[in-house]
This record gives sequence, structure tokens and C-alpha cells, in this order.
Amino acid sequence: MIDDIRAARDAALAQVDAAESLESVTALDTRLLGKKGQLANLKKQLGTLASINEKKAAGQAVNEAMDAVGVALDTRRAVLGSAALDARVLAERIDLTEHVGRPTRGHAHLVTQAWERLEDVFVGLGFRVAEGPEVETDWHNFEALNMGEGHPARGEFDTLFVDYAPEGGESGHTLLRTHTSPVQIRTMLEQDPPIYIVAPGRVFRRDTPDATHMPVFHQIEGLVVDRNITMAHLAGTIEAFTKAFFGSGWSSRLRPSYFPFTEPSAEFDIQRPDGSWLELGGCGMVHPNVLRAGGIDPEQWSGFAFGFGIDRMAVMRHQVGDIRDMFTNDIRFLEQF
Ligand code: FA5
Repeated sequence: MIDDIRAARDAALAQVDAAESLESVTALDTRLLGKKGQLANLKKQLGTLASINEKKAAGQAVNEAMDAVGVALDTRRAVLGSAALDARVLAERIDLTEHVGRPTRGHAHLVTQAWERLEDVFVGLGFRVAEGPEVETDWHNFEALNMGEGHPARGEFDTLFVDYAPEGGESGHTLLRTHTSPVQIRTMLEQDPPIYIVAPGRVFRRDTPDATHMPVFHQIEGLVVDRNITMAHLAGTIEAFTKAFFGSGWSSRLRPSYFPFTEPSAEFDIQRPDGSWLELGGCGMVHPNVLRAGGIDPEQWSGFAFGFGIDRMAVMRHQVGDIRDMFTNDIRFLEQF
């Protein structure tokens, strides 16, 4: 009996070794270890053995043989499984060198494109590009723009104050600028009129992000100071810019508004070719107090200023539904522009 068991075991192990596919291993598993298998048959015959010792020895041998066949099946399954995986990996492999070898060219972000186009349009209208720091003093951002301490308009411009004290000064007066208007003051202090500048840049506010707001966004400021500048020059400049930037089918209008640093003040809207209006930014005649803060005599000079959101303008020009899409850095979105 023991010899029969060993013979059956060796035959089974040989078959397992010869299996070439996972399917044949599964079939062998049923055939060799199932109820109708040779080892199971031998097990059933244990009862026919005469002595208890013979039964014990043969029973143990059958169990060991079945365990050995089970282990062999598992081993063969693992070997064939990893070979199948290797074959699949080989078949599905992508040759990355094809892509690395021919890199696609990137392009400027939508906001950068709008920023550069705006500069081009205004330079074409005779303006110079000016700059100012993103971390500003309270004086440039508020005081000099006719917003003294406690002025209610400061409430709309909540921002972060940085922990910085200039030499000999106190801390609590340095902040992330809330608009590009402080560049008006810096320019007036740096150069004598006539002044024709635009100042694009990044600004910061405590605004919760939504479809039209970001806490960090971009504005472009415009400032003109010359002799006999009137509101008509402001309206004409905005109209010329609207047509140059958006296209000849677009036009603009001014609506009365209020800013502490301009008097009179207006919001300006642009009209799409389909007739609908969109609010773009603020503008007005530079307030005499602001000219004085910039060291310019308001009796001799007058000027206008405007400021609008670059991101919002890019959103409108390209019909993007949500301003946040511009900053989530999804390549599928960015590639479209
Ligand atoms: C100002 O910031 C004034 N400095 C504009 C100005 C300049 C008026 C010169 C007069 C003379 P206002 O807070 O309205 O104004 O912002 C101007 C534009 O910035 C808005 O019309 C809008 O286009 C954009 N803007 C404002 N807040 C956000 C925001 N959270 N996210 C994106 N764009 C914004």
C-alpha cells in the first residue's frame, strides 16, 4: 500500500511539474486532490488494511503525499503566474524614450498671456510699464491714497500685515498690498509729470475663493498725469483699450462710483458684441490729495487713474466659467490656451 501511495504521489508531482499554464494547474488540482483522484481512492482503501499500525502508517503517507502535491501545485501556480505577468508587462510596455526624445513645447500661463498682451496694448497707446513691491507700506497702500487710519474704505481691503519694523520705525505698518494703486504714489515720487504708466502686478486680499474671487490675484493700474487732463481723456483711453484688447465689436461705459483716491470716480463696464455688459474695474480723476502725496501740484497738473483685474479679464476673454480653474494647474485646462 505504501508503495502504491508513493508511486501515485510521484506521478502526481511529475504531472504538476509538466503543467505549462495556469489553466492546466487548476485542472490538475481538481484531478489529483479531488474526491475521484488516485490518492483519494487509496485513502478510501485504508479500511481494508488488516492491522492498526499498517492503517496508521498508510494514512500518514496518504496525508503527506496530498500535502506534497498541494505545495507543488501552489509553487507551480506562482511560477506560471509571475511568468504570465512578465509577459503582460512586456506586451503592454510603452517606450518612454519616444516621448522623452521629442518633448512638447510648453507655453505661458493664461494670466501671463493676458498680462503681456495688456502691456503690449498700453505700450502701443504710449504708456510705459512701471513696477512696485508686493510687500508695501501702510502709507503707500492707504494713507497716500487718501485712506487715513480708520477710513471705512479700508474695510474692503483686509490683508496680512507682516512682522517687520523698519530701522527707527515701528512694526504693524507693512502689509501685502491690496491693489496696484500704491504704484501711482511710487511713480509720482520718482518722476515728474507728464506721467503715462501702467503697472501690472500681484495683489492680496482676504477674499474667500469663489467663481469670481481669489485671495491672490492680479491687477493692472494705469496712471496719467499731465496738463488739462479731463474725464474725456479717461473715457477715450478706456474705449481705445477695450477695442484693442477685446476686438472692434466691443465697447465701454463709465458708471458713477466711489474710491477715496479719485474724484469723481467711476466703475467701467465693457459691452460684449451680443450686447451684455461686464464690470471690469474702477477708475476716476486722481484726487488732489493723492497728487499732493506724490509731490505734484494739483493746481498745475491733473490726471486720471484706473485699475482692473487681469485674471477676471482673461476669464471673460476666454469664456472660462470659474476663475479658480485658472489656478488649479490642471494640465487639461491649461493646454487649451
Ligand atoms: C481697486 O482695487 C482700485 N484700486 C481700482 C482703482 C484704481 C480705482 C485706480 C480707481 C483708480 P476694486 O477693489 O474694485 O478697486 O478692484 C478692481 C478690480 O480688481 C475689480 O473690478 C476686479 O476686476 C478685480 N478684483 C477685485 N477683487 C478680486 C478678487 N478677489 N479676485 C479677482 N479679481 C478681483
